[in-house]
Amino acid sequence: MKLSNRVVRLVPSATNAMATKAKEMRARGESVISFTTGEPDFDSPGKAFNFAVQAMEKGETHYTPTGGIPRLKKAVAAYYQKHFNLSYDPKEIITGTGAKQLLFEALGCLVDPGDEVILFAPVWVSYFEQIRMFDGMPVVLNTGPRDFLPSPEEFETAITERTVAVMLNNPNNPSGAVYPSSLLKTLTKIALRHNLVIINDEVYERLVYGVSYAPHLLELVPEARENVLNINGVSKSYAMTGWRLGYGLGPEKLVKAMTSMQGHVTSNASSVSQWAAIGALEEADGDVEIMRTVYEARRNLMMEKLSAIPGVDFYRPEGAFYVFVNIKPYLGKSYGGLLLDDDVQFCEAILKEKGVGLVPGSAFMYPGYVRFSYSCSEADITEGLSRFGDFVHGLR
Ligand SMILES: Cc1ncc(COP(=O)(O)O)c(C=O)c1O
Repeated sequence: MKLSNRVVRLVPSATNAMATKAKEMRARGESVISFTTGEPDFDSPGKAFNFAVQAMEKGETHYTPTGGIPRLKKAVAAYYQKHFNLSYDPKEIITGTGAKQLLFEALGCLVDPGDEVILFAPVWVSYFEQIRMFDGMPVVLNTGPRDFLPSPEEFETAITERTVAVMLNNPNNPSGAVYPSSLLKTLTKIALRHNLVIINDEVYERLVYGVSYAPHLLELVPEARENVLNINGVSKSYAMTGWRLGYGLGPEKLVKAMTSMQGHVTSNASSVSQWAAIGALEEADGDVEIMRTVYEARRNLMMEKLSAIPGVDFYRPEGAFYVFVNIKPYLGKSYGGLLLDDDVQFCEAILKEKGVGLVPGSAFMYPGYVRFSYSCSEADITEGLSRFGDFVHGLR
């Protein structure tokens, strides 16, 4: 059998590879603290369960309109109105099987072979692979290692006549960076000046700390409305990753095209999941705030424990549930005879020697770093960082 070039060139997800190794070790009875997961460790809100159960009991188990149940679109619109003061018509909203599917559809509707899409590393690697699946050209620009913020000058310089879109992820996975308003405004204006579409992935938008409110780029530059597709969903904010429910809000023309594409792929997202999302959006806002407060306490604990390890270089994240740590000072050293030449070897060695699961920065096109997810208990954070400290202390 011949597989397509498109699929042969796919790079497997390194996040999953490390998480799988950590799980295998745990299954063998080894003591593993895993900081690898990219999902909340909370249960989904009770309201989401109630709505899902009621939907099943009422027989809401059939196809729905492709872009989503009207009440779900209404709930998404009400959410954007309440949280961002942005008005969207149901015609400008699509729901689908996770933010991931909507990102894929957006790229499918915007990218012709050879078209360029600008990304800022560290970057969630699915963006890169999805662009290539449509034979587009990902153009990856590095952000600064001090703050993980893009440079507007480099962004504008990278735009060519083939550039069709730029992908923003704010708050960012894996750095936890939250873009300051002035930067967001400048990036949006540059994109608008060159008529690029901004794919604005804001799946971590509710999980911000220290900053009381992260403004939306369309509040800052309202005239960019026809150039912006917002991608969001219930996975991260509402701890509902398994329900697979995301939403996109943007120009009617693009949303219509995405809906048409989705009609040939999955049709609607699961009807039961749509009802669960209605429950979450309409009635579980309080749950999000409770989880956010817990994440903030964990973020603070991570900062305290990392600061206590001499010489560790890390960035204080303001959003999402990740900390991105610079391990370049440790490369070239060895642990118990194991030479650590790169971030992948570092992650393999610390997992083997100390039972600490981390994700290498190269999984985000930013080698020399490791990602900690603090979507785990405070006890695990304390124990895991103590082991991390012992490990780096033992490097020779
Ligand atoms: C930056 C980013 N965007 C999108 C997603 C996908 O979210 P969903 O579960 O809604 O598909 C993730 C999940 O890890 C993510 O980290």
